[in-house]
Amino acid sequence: MSRRRESWRKKRSVRRESRKVINVPGYKIGGILYSAEEISKKVKELGRQISEDYRGKKITVVGILKGSFVFMADLIRAIDAEIEVDFMEASSYGDSTKSSGNVKIRKDMDSSPVGKNILIVEDIIDTGNTLKYLRDTYLAGKNPESVKIVTMLDKPARRTAEIEADYTGFSIEDLFVIGYGLDYAQKFRELPYIAYLEKEE
Ligand code: IMP
Ligand code: MG
Repeated sequence: MSRRRESWRKKRSVRRESRKVINVPGYKIGGILYSAEEISKKVKELGRQISEDYRGKKITVVGILKGSFVFMADLIRAIDAEIEVDFMEASSYGDSTKSSGNVKIRKDMDSSPVGKNILIVEDIIDTGNTLKYLRDTYLAGKNPESVKIVTMLDKPARRTAEIEADYTGFSIEDLFVIGYGLDYAQKFRELPYIAYLEKEE
């Protein structure tokens, strides 16, 4: 890449990252955890690993709405395999920063999971309640060939359900994070980086 183009790219990403006004009463942005570049590198690594593990198999990639859609869009383009895409929506946080523990299916897969190699895509595993229910109670009863989980982020400190992802991007501390698909009250999903919110003193 030419020098001019590189410096333009740098300026542009700085502008994009500072453009956003964090307007949540009582909260401020605490800091950026992972930049767009770091995320992109990690997604490519995950894609390579998944391609190797599923060599010769068709993968049904199932995104858990809404948080996973940004990660999923990047991930499927980093996987070298035959892919089919589907989505599910489960109830989660509502508009607060605490998990309810109560899981409901709001939207089921359009296709049948029977006999398929299902790769569930999550944005973040927190208590683990959502995935525990989806994988071990819901999908397990529908005879898929296999079910694996890939998550961009993992917050192991808050786990109450016994569940682990097969592929994890980054393991993080107990922070409330936003960006790259993750929201606070439906805001900030469009940020190209992952940041954390801090309570204002
Ligand atoms: P779990 O059932 O407690 O594991 O909750 C998982 C879901 O809660 C994720 O798919 C997210 O939608 C949401 N969630 C958990 N932690 C965060 C966070 O730090 N920021 C934004 N959403 C989160
Ligand atoms: Mg979610």
